Parts: sequence; structure tokens; C-alpha cells
Amino acid sequence: MTATELHDLLFGNVQGYSLSASGRSKAGREADPVLTYGEITPESVQYMMEMTNPQPGEVFYDLGSGTGKAVIFAAFLAPFKRATGIELIEDLYQSAADSAHRYKTEIQPQLPLEYQGREVDFRHGSMFDHDTSDGDVFFTHCTCFDDAMMEQIGRKLEACKPGTRVITVTKGLTSPEFELLHSAPFRLGWGEATLCFYRRK
Ligand SMILES: C[S@@+](CC[C@H](N)C(=O)[O-])C[C@H]1O[C@@H](n2cnc3c(N)ncnc32)[C@H](O)[C@@H]1O
Repeated sequence: MTATELHDLLFGNVQGYSLSASGRSKAGREADPVLTYGEITPESVQYMMEMTNPQPGEVFYDLGSGTGKAVIFAAFLAPFKRATGIELIEDLYQSAADSAHRYKTEIQPQLPLEYQGREVDFRHGSMFDHDTSDGDVFFTHCTCFDDAMMEQIGRKLEACKPGTRVITVTKGLTSPEFELLHSAPFRLGWGEATLCFYRRK
């Protein structure tokens, strides 16, 4: 199975933009720019995995995980012991949790042995209220996050061990504890964006 086939099987009927709109409306935050929705593609996660070279037993986080695509593709494409997504909007979180259940029950059992120990989980709430200090590779699709939030993310990730890799989209980390290794344009679900790759010093 390829990541594209997995995408079509699990996410073919998932409407992330509508789920985000309904969830933001329920939360009374329809117009909050930091909650603007957008998705990655399987190809972009493949590129992120090539660039960050995950090692067996490492932990992946997506901070603001939407319908859960990056988390499930990371678990499919790399030997993480756990891939975790954290999402504030309940409808998006619930959709990701449903896709994780389908991945575990319908797809993972058919994959080779090395895929079996890889855990996928989703947490509902703000990324700033969850401990992520065991992470080795982080992704945050932060194009619409504001400057204060980017600073807060940088401070949060300073709690991680040296060597931790962080991928951001469009906006960069401001923390001096992170070294920018590489940045490059890549096509995401909504258009071309710059992916930035950092390493915790
Ligand atoms: C651009 S979307 C990215 C979705 C997914 N990571 C992807 O790339 O396919 C950013 C997500 O971050 C979520 N978000 C914004 N602020 C958040 C916070 N404080 N904690 C958790 N999620 C948040 C939004 O609701 C939105 O779903």
C-alpha cells in the first residue's frame, strides 16, 4: 500500500474544511485567524520524513493536527513508536480519532510486522496544555498562527532534548535554541508553502 492509497482509503470522505468551520462555529471562534484550516499531502509528509530521518523508537507530534493526516502518514512512513496529534477544535479531533481507529483496526493488521508496534493517538485541547517533552520530531502547520503563538511554540519546544527536529510551515521559530537547517518550497493541500527544518541545539 502507498501513502496515496492510504490517503484515499482513510480520508477520501473526510471534509476537513467543513469540520473546521462547524467546530469553530460551535466554539464561537468562526473568525479567529489562528484557527484557519489547511492540510498537508502524503507527498509532503514523505519529504518531511526524508529530511528528518526518524529513528526506531522516536516520537512524532503534530501541534494542531486537524483531521490527523500528518500523524497517520508519519506512523505509516517512519518507524516512530508513537505519533500523536493535538487539536483544539473538537470536530477535527473527533474525525482524527475515528480515522486512527479505522487505521488500527482495518489497515495496520494487514501491514508487515514492523508496523504493528507503532502507536497513533490524538488528544483534544490546546497544544499548550499538553506535555510534549518526549517528542523527537515535531510538525506544526503554522502558516496562520500569530507572532505571539509562534513565540509560545518556541518556548514550549525548548523543553525538548538536544537533537529534536521541528518542521514549521511559512513561519519560523524565533527561539535561539533552534538552528535552521534548511528551508524549501513544497506543494501542500492549499498551495505552495515554505517548509522550514530546525534542530534543537
Ligand atoms: C493549518 S491546520 C493544519 C492541520 C494538519 N496539521 C495538517 O497539516 O493537515 C492548523 C490546525 O491547528 C489548530 N490549532 C490552532 N491553534 C491550536 C492550539 N492552540 N492547539 C491545538 N490546535 C490548534 C487549528 O484548529 C487547525 O486545525
